Amino acid sequence: MTGLLEEYILAHIDHEPELLREMQREAHVKLLHPTMVSGHLQGRLLKMLVQMIRPARVLEIGTYTGYSALSIAEGLEDDAALHTIEIDDEMEDMIRRYFSRSPSGKRITLHVGDAFEIIPRFGDAYFDMVFIDADKRDYWKLYETVLLKVRKGGFLLADNTLWHGKVLEETESNDWQTKGIIAFNDKLADDDRVEKVILPLRDGLTLIRKKK
Ligand SMILES: C[S@@+](CC[C@H](N)C(=O)[O-])C[C@H]1O[C@@H](n2cnc3c(N)ncnc32)[C@H](O)[C@@H]1O
Repeated sequence: MTGLLEEYILAHIDHEPELLREMQREAHVKLLHPTMVSGHLQGRLLKMLVQMIRPARVLEIGTYTGYSALSIAEGLEDDAALHTIEIDDEMEDMIRRYFSRSPSGKRITLHVGDAFEIIPRFGDAYFDMVFIDADKRDYWKLYETVLLKVRKGGFLLADNTLWHGKVLEETESNDWQTKGIIAFNDKLADDDRVEKVILPLRDGLTLIRKKK
């Protein structure tokens, strides 16, 4: 998307909440990879999708600053819950600081650790919606792990699935992130347990529905 078109879109959709603007600013000043944050457009889309799906239980894999978690939580009904998992314990203070300042923060439980260790601890509990936004090298393995925990008719969203267009390019032999995304997209295309559609939003957001 061109810069001007993006500016136009952002001027014609709901405003970014002040707390999330502040988080974005802090991410740009203090963090190494601020572009990993979902941002204004995707944040508003996540909130809207949550309001459409009306999930009771949501799981997010990859919290980073908590931007997408707060956007998802904003759309949740009062008695609904979001569990979000972040492997990097250095992010914990920032995440908790922002969650505590938002009225939606009370709907979020942060789990600090590796998603592959934490997901099995949810036991028999099912999720109505899952947002996959962690290490691109692990996308297929994460998807397989978490699909078991999604109820039939439930939704998964996978972020960055066009990977800045790199999915179309020849991959360097050591570019494991691009390889991970390409493998995920190829396997998902053949996966008849689910329905799927890719939105060319930012660098690709795949919407997946587990069949009944
Ligand atoms: C793209 S960022 C998440 C951005 C956030 N969801 C947002 O949209 O604002 C990816 C995050 O996933 C975390 N991560 C990577 N592998 C993980 C794993 N196995 N378990 C939990 N978190 C993981 C990284 O530490 C990083 O903070």
